[in-house]
Amino acid sequence: MRILGIETSCDETGVAIYDDEKGLLAHQLYSQVKLHADYGGVVPELASRDHVKKTIPLIKAALNDAGLTKDDIDGIAYTAGPGLVGALLVGSTIGRSIAYAWDVPAIPVHHMEGHLLAPMLEDVPPAFPFVALLVSGGHTMMVEVKGIGEYQILGESVDDAAGEAFDKTAKLMGLDYPGGPLLSKLAENGTKGRFKFPRPMTDRPGLDFSFSGLKTFAANTIRANEDDLQTRADIAFAFQEAVVDTLAIKCRRALKQTGMKRLVMAGGVSANKYLRQELEVVMKKIGGEVYYPRTEFCTDNGAMIAYAGMQRLKNGETTDLAVQAKPRWPIDQLAPIK
Ligand SMILES: Nc1ncnc2c1ncn2[C@@H]1O[C@H](COP(=O)(O)OP(=O)(O)OP(=O)(O)O)[C@@H](O)[C@H]1O
Ligand SMILES: [Mg+2]
Repeated sequence: MRILGIETSCDETGVAIYDDEKGLLAHQLYSQVKLHADYGGVVPELASRDHVKKTIPLIKAALNDAGLTKDDIDGIAYTAGPGLVGALLVGSTIGRSIAYAWDVPAIPVHHMEGHLLAPMLEDVPPAFPFVALLVSGGHTMMVEVKGIGEYQILGESVDDAAGEAFDKTAKLMGLDYPGGPLLSKLAENGTKGRFKFPRPMTDRPGLDFSFSGLKTFAANTIRANEDDLQTRADIAFAFQEAVVDTLAIKCRRALKQTGMKRLVMAGGVSANKYLRQELEVVMKKIGGEVYYPRTEFCTDNGAMIAYAGMQRLKNGETTDLAVQAKPRWPIDQLAPIK
């Protein structure tokens, strides 16, 4: 069985074809980063309009890459939420309409379930159950995962998401949008110990996060110090160290609380090398394993949507002809797979 996956929830148009026996057959990605860079963030209307231009050419390209035609596709999975409503509507409408035209089922997919299952596309996928740390541009969540669709949120951010904190702090430092990866690069030349940022909400029990204070702390540190490249790198280092350390403390806590030894991380920030390194250390200490997607599948992509859609279709889930677009859609409302 083969599924075509379509992702348009934010500023990436992603299309992929997943085969339940052969794995991933093709994936195409177009990033709108350049389109939004001048504005310092995603402009929703521009994002929607660009998805309109890119989605169908990418579907054609993916079919072409895989050497397939429409007759080889057994279902179409599209991101139905959460995300920017206009952007979601493009992928949802195209996905639902093509499914109707090709006479195959359409499967609305939860974007964060897509991220959470992205490590399943790797050679050594994690077994259930596990604790998942979802760290992206819009979400920071600790989830206890017993199986597909069996998600219990253990904690989440009360304000900025981890990726958002990276991007906002990077902007303060004059880096281009999205600044997360650039800030991380800058931090490579930073000196450990020159600045010490707080580890928010680690001094009390619980698994919630708060990252907006770190951005203010960064702003004050920038103001109070001379502005040279080394100082910037030192601030970037201290900021990244604080975010990563905070995430690592909460992962340790979640693993202890659930008695689990498997950790999965996914979402854009899981591409962060320092975070990967620190979580490897945490897991080594407790004799456990950490799993994450290859770098290109950390950020938004069609492969994770095709994979998640395949699991739901195999579960016999079908939908009517309605186009689904849900800007808000809590992950713990999903149905477990039987
Ligand atoms: N190496 C890195 N270090 C830190 N942050 C990174 C890195 N690479 C990507 N990011 C951050 O990841 C985020 C993008 O991830 P992703 O595409 O998963 O988010 P999103 O789709 O916008 O949000 P959501 O999935 O919550 O809707 C951005 O905030 C970006 O700065
Ligand atoms: Mg995302």
